[in-house]
Amino acid sequence: MPAYAVLGAQWGDEGKGKIVDFLARDADIVARFSGGNNAGHTVMNPMGTFKLHLVPVGVFWPQVIGVIGNGVVVDPDGLLQEIEELQQRGIDLTDRLLVSERAHIVMPYHIVLDELAELARGSEAIGTTGRGIGPAYTDKAARIGIRIADLLDLEALLPRLDNVMAHQNAIIDKVYGGQPLSLDKVYDRCKEWASRLMQFIGPVEHVVYDALQAGRTVVLEGAQGAMLDLDHGTYPYVTSSHPTIGGAYTGLGLPPNQIESVLGVFKAYSTRVGHGPFLTELHGETGSKIRELAGEFGTTTGRARRVGWFDSVAARYSVRINGYTSLVLTRLDVLDSLDSIKVCTAYELDGETVTDFPGSAAVLERCTPIYEDFPAWDRPTAGVTDFDDLPVGARAYVRRLEELIGRPIDLISTGPYRHETIEVRSMIAV
Ligand code: GDP
Ligand code: IMO
Ligand code: MG
Repeated sequence: MPAYAVLGAQWGDEGKGKIVDFLARDADIVARFSGGNNAGHTVMNPMGTFKLHLVPVGVFWPQVIGVIGNGVVVDPDGLLQEIEELQQRGIDLTDRLLVSERAHIVMPYHIVLDELAELARGSEAIGTTGRGIGPAYTDKAARIGIRIADLLDLEALLPRLDNVMAHQNAIIDKVYGGQPLSLDKVYDRCKEWASRLMQFIGPVEHVVYDALQAGRTVVLEGAQGAMLDLDHGTYPYVTSSHPTIGGAYTGLGLPPNQIESVLGVFKAYSTRVGHGPFLTELHGETGSKIRELAGEFGTTTGRARRVGWFDSVAARYSVRINGYTSLVLTRLDVLDSLDSIKVCTAYELDGETVTDFPGSAAVLERCTPIYEDFPAWDRPTAGVTDFDDLPVGARAYVRRLEELIGRPIDLISTGPYRHETIEVRSMIAV
């Protein structure tokens, strides 16, 4: 069987965790390919409620091996804590988790630099998660990153780390006036990570490739969302990796012909955490109502998420750059208690109608959304598992979104639990 990619299609937090947990029933491997512990993926299943940041959410199915690909940046403390917490709750990852030797490590100085850089940006701050993600990817591109493989040869690591830390400490001290970090302390952390992570380190590319050759099913668990992509998102208000389909290939060393389906996960409305343009944002009562009702607070940082209407201009762009073969719609039930619903169908810019998503954040800020109105539906969608059992209004909403986005919606989520799902069309061939 081939690989299936499950990607965030908006600004992250679309409910990828819930969907991957649902689909992983039929998977042999679930693999992360980008981002780090800036991600927060919530899963609610018969084993409980879990919030995972680095461990792939597929591991709740006993047959699944979790894989962390080369495109991910790994905070070893975060990963070890997650493994331990899962262990305490009865999910043992021994022989069931594999971390790529090629993945880069989020080092303690990356976290310090993330915080200092945000402070220095002042009113231009990005609103990062503060997990050191940007600085870790910066070092990767600058070829001064420390990789998981480096933990396997601690002797060779020491002079490299000395060199890199001299550079990073100079920036911390001279540019930001911060407190330099001790080489000895960071090296000691590396030694501890090496001994504790050793059993999980392996040749991920080969394992995934061999599994596909042997006819196994691989689900690729996206992190973040298309509109946060370093190239395709609302730059500079983006993350430093590629949550789009290209990132899945490079982040796992996977040949393009191995991915059969690309599933785009959309929320039935929009949210965004951090700064940056968000045209359909609701600043008043409706926004607060949705935020409170739906618990729209960051899974990783606890920050209040900005809430807005569904933006089909951004959605069509997301389709274009990812080539979704089908769509997933989550959190439809959140709209149950609203009096009326809006969907943005186009933007207006200087008296002209814009239907293609602009490439510049500054131009985006000048656009205003054009809306189509939908009446409230007369009974709840919450917990519904059959499309025909949805109220007429909700079905009309789903059908109109399909029209506006231009792709079929094959899976609809009507609640946070695994079973609260409508499978319009089976997405994984078994
Ligand atoms: P992710 O980062 O894309 O995995 O999404 P998060 O876990 O950060 O945020 C999604 C939130 O929505 C979580 O609290 C989920 O439990 C919840 N959720 C997912 N699908 C549904 C749904 O269909 N209805 C409701 N009410 N909540 C959902
Ligand atoms: P999941 O996988 C939502 C946002 C941050 C910030 C920007 C840059 O749970 O959907 P970073 O720390 O990555 O440098 O922050 O990206 N961001 C997310 N927003 N969901 C996420 O992940 C996110 N990961 C990063 O809020 O605006
Ligand atoms: Mg999240």
